Amino acid sequence: MTTGEIAPGIASPALPASLRGTLPGRYYTDPTIFAAEQALIFETGWFCAVLAADLPTAGAFETVQIGRESVIVARGRDGGVNAYLNVCRHRGARICTEDKGSVRRSFQCPYHAWTYGLDGKLISAPNIGEMPDIDRVEYGLHRVHVREWLGYVWLCLAEEPPSFEDTVIGDVTARLGSPDAIVGYQVADLKLGRRISYDVKANWKQIVENFMECYHCGTIHPELTEVLPEFANGLAAQYFVGHGAEFGEDVAGFTVDGSAGLERIPGVGDDQDRRYYAITVRPQVFINLVPDHVVFHRMFPLTADRTLVLCDWLYLPDVVDSGADIDRSVELFHRVNQQDFDACERCQLSMDSRSYARGGVLVPSEHHIGEFHDWVARRVG
Ligand code: FES
Ligand SMILES: [Fe+2]
Repeated sequence: MTTGEIAPGIASPALPASLRGTLPGRYYTDPTIFAAEQALIFETGWFCAVLAADLPTAGAFETVQIGRESVIVARGRDGGVNAYLNVCRHRGARICTEDKGSVRRSFQCPYHAWTYGLDGKLISAPNIGEMPDIDRVEYGLHRVHVREWLGYVWLCLAEEPPSFEDTVIGDVTARLGSPDAIVGYQVADLKLGRRISYDVKANWKQIVENFMECYHCGTIHPELTEVLPEFANGLAAQYFVGHGAEFGEDVAGFTVDGSAGLERIPGVGDDQDRRYYAITVRPQVFINLVPDHVVFHRMFPLTADRTLVLCDWLYLPDVVDSGADIDRSVELFHRVNQQDFDACERCQLSMDSRSYARGGVLVPSEHHIGEFHDWVARRVG
């Protein structure tokens, strides 16, 4: 039997009308498919890489892995953010091996000391006087396209990036029904209150699919369904365009015990108050909006069966600076994350089983996940 063939004796009957098929199991484990996703999804579209506030001053940098590339993201002397491939133009040494740090005014390759400015331009090299024909821009670090939105630095490795408005903002608009609906949350002006990283032993698509549906909410999210009773019937907020799930009648805030939250973000309208909105920005961002804070997830796929998720809890700056108690609101989504990622890891264990060689099924409240599968399949074939 070759890989991917179904075992003899396991029948795959035509699906009844209420069910749709999923991707086959190998899409979650096969390194060849993962490599295709790296090249054709993560290296071609906009990737949310860094919280801009994590680069507070000129010379502050982070390195991020996008697809197969390591990228340096650095604050320039003009206050803007630059990004370039972490590959020396001399003989290819990796320039930065730290995840983050700060340099005074340049990056120097540790091998032969070629030195690059914060804009990536080649500034100096040993004996550069003997090479007067070298163009300092031409032999600078390869630049990556940069865009700042919602307080995050989004990067695109493609030579010709797709429209940011059509892809990233388009996903938010498709979910909320209007590009203006997110504006009132003033996400770019919020401040990081807490960050938790999760090393999830599951393929990145498991995590996207899980986030898109709420069929599981009644089973694994007792705290969340207390706060958002409509989730108990299995229809995620993401199922309806523009719909925010309403807090339960006796719930005061989006906290682990339903107790009062913090002051409402001033731009949040009355129609958005006491509601929870969830947005998937393909391929690697989830945004959760509630009246007093925003929970922002970035995923970094590491291998076919391992994904790093960074989750940021963002609040009004006054809330963070005053030391107000954010623990109860952090705890709610932290539990949701743990419950979700446990479920993703549980599914990942079965992806190579012969029982899942042709995939599983989506029930009606999950049918919209099929559009995500089509989106992936269109890109990787
Ligand atoms: S490889 Fe970087 S200076 Fe030689
Ligand atoms: Fe969940």
